[in-house]
Amino acid sequence: MKKYKIAVVGATGAVGIEMIKMLESRRNFSVESIKFFASQRSVGKKLIYNGKEIVVELLREDSGKGIDIALFSAGATVSEKFAPFFTADNCFVVDNSSAWRMDKDVPLVVPEVNAYELKKDRKLIANPNCSTIQMVVALKPLHDFAKIKRVIVSTYQSVSGAGQNGINELSEQVKAWAIEGQQPIVANKFQYQIAFNLIPQIDVFTENGYTKEEMKMTNETKKIMGDCSIEVSATCVRVPVFRSHSESIWIETERPLSPSKAKELLSATDGIQLLDEPENKKYPMPLFAENMQTTYIGRIRSDISTKNNALTFWVVSDNLLKGAALNAVQIAETLIKNKLV
Ligand code: A2P
Repeated sequence: MKKYKIAVVGATGAVGIEMIKMLESRRNFSVESIKFFASQRSVGKKLIYNGKEIVVELLREDSGKGIDIALFSAGATVSEKFAPFFTADNCFVVDNSSAWRMDKDVPLVVPEVNAYELKKDRKLIANPNCSTIQMVVALKPLHDFAKIKRVIVSTYQSVSGAGQNGINELSEQVKAWAIEGQQPIVANKFQYQIAFNLIPQIDVFTENGYTKEEMKMTNETKKIMGDCSIEVSATCVRVPVFRSHSESIWIETERPLSPSKAKELLSATDGIQLLDEPENKKYPMPLFAENMQTTYIGRIRSDISTKNNALTFWVVSDNLLKGAALNAVQIAETLIKNKLV
């Protein structure tokens, strides 16, 4: 069986660590060698892969030489600079940043939705925004059946979406609050205190009043679903949750779609688990989705405010897994399964 040379770029970050764990635990392809890259700050640090210590190396322009697939999660600036060197060295790059997502020559892939976009000669592949991934996983089977015209979504996004510094900031603020009066609550990573608060701003505002995060959900959904006619209006909110993003999603469809049909379609979809028994208080919650590779859906109901075909539901998934590391590893698995690498 063929074995593959893998690299993780940004291996010390919140997503990078999960990429390593996914590569260890899923074992859907054989790894011949693995390299970990990060910034100067982490050079020499040791990370464990399958019980072995691997020393973190400095990312350089020639780091992609001899690598088959590199998973990047080191931010857009690093991707913009280094991904082209990797692909020039014939290495596939699965990039978790926003750098290349809307580039027309770069496939933006959620394997359950558009694995057909992966091609041998398209070496650079973009991993979508975390909130978009879990939403399109839910939308795809419903769209195939009833054609979605419009989506209104509000997100409840955990602090890990902002990386390790986001996790640290919530943790430190909670500690400072608990030792009342002894430590000031300091906000660096987020615009305001995030502990015991909600911040209705993720990324910067654009000219139309939406944030960049919200426009990612609009634009990336159209691209992944391959349908520019789907209209998406998003409100993205940062919440004091460590892991897992939650979303309240409303859809209007061209054809009728009952809650029972939606449940049937969603339960038959890979990667989705229905958790929809309100009478037993069963519905998805971020604490339950943490560390799980599944997208959970519940609270499915018809919209009582309109006679149009409209449905509303609640979706929760671990943003560091399906929203980032897992989706990237699934892209690598698909490349290998389809013999593209
Ligand atoms: P480092 O830990 O050495 O700074 P997060 O999203 O959790 O903040 O993680 C970002 C990841 O990207 C980290 O692994 C970080 O490494 C890495 N990174 C940041 N800047 C660079 C760079 N210039 N070159 C390589 N890796 C980088």
